[in-house]
Amino acid sequence: MRILVTGAAGFIGFHLARRLLADGHEVAGVDGMTPYYDPALKRARLAQLAAQKNFSFDEAMLEDMPAMTAVVRRAAPDIIVHLAAQAGVRYSLEAPRAYVDANLVGCFNVLELARSAGVSHLLLASTSSIYGAATKRPFEELDPTDHPLTLYAASKKAGELMSHAYSHLWNIPTTAFRFFTVYGPWGRPDMSPWIFADAIAAGRPIDVHGHGEIWRDFTYVDDLVEAIVRLMSRPPAKGDPVAPVDSLSPDAPWRVVNIGRGEPVKLTVLIDAIERALGRTAVRNLTPMQPGDVPLTFASAELLEALTGYRPETSLDEGARAFCAWFKSYHALGNG
Ligand SMILES: NC(=O)c1ccc[n+]([C@@H]2O[C@H](COP(=O)([O-])OP(=O)(O)OC[C@H]3O[C@@H](n4cnc5c(N)ncnc54)[C@H](O)[C@@H]3O)[C@@H](O)[C@H]2O)c1
Repeated sequence: MRILVTGAAGFIGFHLARRLLADGHEVAGVDGMTPYYDPALKRARLAQLAAQKNFSFDEAMLEDMPAMTAVVRRAAPDIIVHLAAQAGVRYSLEAPRAYVDANLVGCFNVLELARSAGVSHLLLASTSSIYGAATKRPFEELDPTDHPLTLYAASKKAGELMSHAYSHLWNIPTTAFRFFTVYGPWGRPDMSPWIFADAIAAGRPIDVHGHGEIWRDFTYVDDLVEAIVRLMSRPPAKGDPVAPVDSLSPDAPWRVVNIGRGEPVKLTVLIDAIERALGRTAVRNLTPMQPGDVPLTFASAELLEALTGYRPETSLDEGARAFCAWFKSYHALGNG
C-alpha cells in the first residue's frame, strides 16, 4: 500500500512511518518541520527514516495548499494518516493562531486532498483533551465533548466534525482517533516524561502541577502504533455492526476511537518510575493546577478492543524504562 503520513518527522508520525516501512508499505512523509520544539530532533528522526528505501519525504506546511497538492499528487496515496498538527495543550494559551492555521486550515486542506485523491481510508489524530473536565469515567466515544477547555481541544474537535461532514458528503471512510498521553523513545520535549527526565538527570527541581493530584492514561507509543495499524486495515463501512459507532449518523463511514490503556496513573507514579530508571531522586516542587489542565484522563478501550481485538498493554514502569534508556543514549550522542 502507498500511505501518506503527515507529521512524519513528529514523535508519533516517525514511529508509525517506521512500523509501516517494516511491514513492507511505501511511505510518503510530509512535515512542516515547525520550530515548536527543537527541529534537530525532527531531523534526527527523519535521518532514521531516510535510510529506508520505500520512504520519501517532502517539507511542506499544511496551510500551503499548492505545496500540499503537489505532495499528494506525487504520493498518490491509498491511505492518508493525518498526524501533523500544532500539538500541546499549554502552548495554545500562548500562540492560539498556530492552532487555527495548522489544525483548522491545515486539516481542511487535508480533507480536500483526501477527497480529490479518492483514498480508501483517512485516519486523523484527535485528542483525549476534547473530553474537557468530564466527570463521567471512563471517557467513552459517544460522551458529550462540547465543552473544550482549550483552543487546542476545540481545534481538534473541529477536525473531527469537519472530517465527519466530508465522510458523509463524499463517502470517505474515516477514522478519528483520540490519543491519550502518548510517550516513549523519540518523544516530545514539551511533555512531562521528557521535562521530568531532563530536570532529574541535571539535578534541577521539577514542578509537580496540581500538587500531584493529576492522573493520566499514559499510552506507550509502540502500543499506539499497533492500534493505528490494526484500525488502518479495518476502515469503517456502512452497516458494520461495530463501526461506525455514531448511531445518529448511520450513513457516514466515519468513526471515532479512543486509543488509551484505560488505566489512569497518578503523575507522581510517573516521576517515581523515571527516578528508578535514571537512578536519581527528584527534587519536587508542588505547584497548583495550570490553566487549561484537566485533573484526569481515562480512556474506555472497549471500542478499540471490539474493532481490533487489541488494547494497549505496556506498563508505565516498562515504558518509562524504555523512554529513559533512549533519553540517555540520545543525550550521550551530544544531542540537545
Ligand atoms: N503525543 C500525544 O500525547 C498526543 C496526544 C493527543 C493527540 N496527539 C496528536 O497526535 C498528533 C501527533 O502528535 P505528536 O505527539 O507526534 O506531535 P509532534 O509535534 O511531535 O508532531 C507533529 C508534527 O507536525 C508538524 N507540524 C506542525 N504544524 C504543522 C503545519 N502547520 N504544517 C505541517 N506540519 C506541521 C510538526 O513539525 C511535527 O513534526 C498530533 O495531531 C497531536 O495533536 C498527540
